Amino acid sequence: MPAHRIAVIGGDGIGPEVVEAGLRVLDALAGAEPGLSFDFTRFDWGSDYYRRNGCMMPEDGLARLEAFNAIYFGAVGDPELPDDITLWGLRLAICQGFDQYANVRPTRLLPGLKGPLRPELGAAIDWVIVRENSEGEYAGVGGRAHRGLPIEVGMDVAVFTRAGIERIARFACGVAMSRPRQLLTVVTKSNAQRHGMVLWDTVVREVIRDYPDLTVDWMLVDAMTQRMVNKPGTIDTVLATNLHADILSDLAAALGGSLGIGATANIDPSRHRPSMFEPIHGSAFDIMGKGIANPLGSFWTASLMLDHLGEKSAARRLMSAIEVVTDRGEVLSPDLGGTADTKAVTDAVIGVIKGEN
Ligand code: NAI
Ligand code: MG
Repeated sequence: MPAHRIAVIGGDGIGPEVVEAGLRVLDALAGAEPGLSFDFTRFDWGSDYYRRNGCMMPEDGLARLEAFNAIYFGAVGDPELPDDITLWGLRLAICQGFDQYANVRPTRLLPGLKGPLRPELGAAIDWVIVRENSEGEYAGVGGRAHRGLPIEVGMDVAVFTRAGIERIARFACGVAMSRPRQLLTVVTKSNAQRHGMVLWDTVVREVIRDYPDLTVDWMLVDAMTQRMVNKPGTIDTVLATNLHADILSDLAAALGGSLGIGATANIDPSRHRPSMFEPIHGSAFDIMGKGIANPLGSFWTASLMLDHLGEKSAARRLMSAIEVVTDRGEVLSPDLGGTADTKAVTDAVIGVIKGEN
């Protein structure tokens, strides 16, 4: 097997800290799995790059990423720069430029960890949230007028297209069908949002007709939050819009124990362009540079990337190494109630991969 060519963008804050930890783990896996190898290329794009060059990545950034098999990403966000500049300048520029229209976020309460729910409810969490990642409320369409005047206005227009809804619905149905329960919950808000969300319902309903074995139920987004808390075991795969899934997936991450664990894949299902894999957390100003960021989210992310690259055995091996470490509970970072730093958690996972401990 040729080496997988991975573009590595650590970005800002704790992004590079957890991504470098992830690269150590991937190297350890390559040493342990016959035939597995990686060719990593690091890009120093992000807020420091912006301070030097006036942009988050070079103009030909997407062209330079195009030939890679996957992108392994940290986080963006800097205390001195506006969040919309850092987000749109790098992360969203890649997601939208490469049409990574499916954002996939698995959530489970990993063994040994305590979430905020009662233990029997927490143990029932086993979800995949599929988020529409190219349009909807985050399409970037809108404008400002009458700047500085009392009649100043700002508008964000939610854009829902038949093609955009259809492709994400089909993707979500595929994910749901690949899981044992074959259960899809479609999240909507068509009672209050009378145009785009009604089209969403209509097109999703058309798509699910092609999946007769799938069990489908529908939830309004506000009611979905309480179902996630009160009846987590009734949920499996979730399909939601860009904004709705953004919020629901942070709730999911919290119920799963810590923002420091959650992982995301931004996928171009057509595979014409590289997909991007990132922990769900941001650059975490409050702990950056301290070496105590939880790297498990970036490891879970790496496992999603391996799965996408067809390295199923390595993906499973990494995930089970993470679970061995959480289950033992001896080497956990402060966000999980432990005292271990990033390096110690990384060493523990590598130790399990190598069979040393
Ligand atoms: P955040 O995720 O950076 O931090 C929220 C809280 O969770 C903080 O207390 C932080 O210390 C903690 N936390 C996050 N990841 C952790 C980890 N791996 N280990 C231990 N603790 C962890 O979100 P926040 O504070 O809202 O945003 C900070 C910056 O990150 C902003 O500029 C924001 O725009 C950006 N951001 C970027 C994202 C991305 O690049 N995909 C996603 C979310 C936020
Ligand atoms: Mg978010």
